[in-house]
Amino acid sequence: MSYLTKNYNRKKISFKYGKGSYLYSTDGKKYIDFVSGIAVNSLGHAHPKLVKTINAQAKKLWHVSNAFIIPEGERLAKKLCKKTFADYVMFQNSGAEATEAAIKVARRYFYSIGKPNKNRILCVKNSFHGRTLAAIYASGSKKMTEGFGPKVGGFDHFKFGDHNSLKKKITKNTAAIMVETIMGEGGIKVIPDWCLRGLRKLCNKKKILLILDEVQCGISRTGDFFAFEQSKVKPDIVPIAKGIGGGFPIGAVLMNKKVASGMTPGTHGSTFGGNPLAMAVGNSVMDIVSSKKFLINVKSVSKYFLSSLNKIKDEYPNIIKEIRGRGLLIGMQLYTDQTKFIKKLMENKLLTIRAAENVIRILPPLNVKRNEIDQALKIIKKVCSEEN
Ligand SMILES: Cc1ncc(COP(=O)(O)O)c(C=O)c1O
Repeated sequence: MSYLTKNYNRKKISFKYGKGSYLYSTDGKKYIDFVSGIAVNSLGHAHPKLVKTINAQAKKLWHVSNAFIIPEGERLAKKLCKKTFADYVMFQNSGAEATEAAIKVARRYFYSIGKPNKNRILCVKNSFHGRTLAAIYASGSKKMTEGFGPKVGGFDHFKFGDHNSLKKKITKNTAAIMVETIMGEGGIKVIPDWCLRGLRKLCNKKKILLILDEVQCGISRTGDFFAFEQSKVKPDIVPIAKGIGGGFPIGAVLMNKKVASGMTPGTHGSTFGGNPLAMAVGNSVMDIVSSKKFLINVKSVSKYFLSSLNKIKDEYPNIIKEIRGRGLLIGMQLYTDQTKFIKKLMENKLLTIRAAENVIRILPPLNVKRNEIDQALKIIKKVCSEEN
């Protein structure tokens, strides 16, 4: 009997500890963890530097209030701004909070320049921005909103890739377009660079803001610090979370100077957001994952992984439909049943997770080793041959 609510469809397995890319179950088995807490454990489990950081900070100071200056947060914000398009950062605790705060920043900016009616946010239908009330209505998915009415207003939707519907949906009340640079839950669907550039142009023309949700695809997961970097586009607002904490809950909204001007004292707040313990961990993660050498390695490991997966796809063309993604945000779209395939991978000690469109998400830690990828490839190939 579990006293937890049944809102998760949990696998009948639990873990005692983790080390690097591996998880060790309570019943004594060793698994390759290519879920990474859904793109969270960017440096795997129990990374020595993060363990050291959290222990040292735990002895010093866990929490104060945002009523005071928090030097660890100042340091992390500076690093994020120096590394990216951003001029300012606002810390939260999770991805949903970060996307909601991003919406608040956009609305508040137009309010502050005397355009309070410019408050609608245009999103992709069936996207994923989190599970809070506003975020589920931003995502525009029937499955996520069913039973949670009344509807939270202020969101419009267009179909992924449908440029005409996107243009038609922009009105004089639109404040921002908010999209995931790479749709994670939606099936690892990448917005091509030329589309991102088109979005930026459109936003400039219509004088609206561009919000790129990098909660899942950001923080070096694609081999660039942000997934949009390759396109050379500069968004106005970027919510982040997941990978920046390496397993410690951290969220943040990065923004440019223009939109930050609306966020005057009292306009937003969070009790825990940016506390010293979280910020100490965030600084350590940032120092490692933002280095040039680290990013180059993510790209080279990813190139190897993606090309090997494509070879398996060519060998089993009636099992694997498509290999998608960028960096170590990988999707394997199947012809066969996704749930059964994930179960078989797990029976062979490889952990993966589902996404929409019959896609299996493969999310190794960013410091994954080649031999660990080889072990995973062997298992994937074995399951393909059994399914064939
Ligand atoms: C793109 C995106 N935005 C927002 C969220 C919500 O993050 P959280 O679960 O931390 O609230 C997620 C979570 O999967 C996500 O993938």
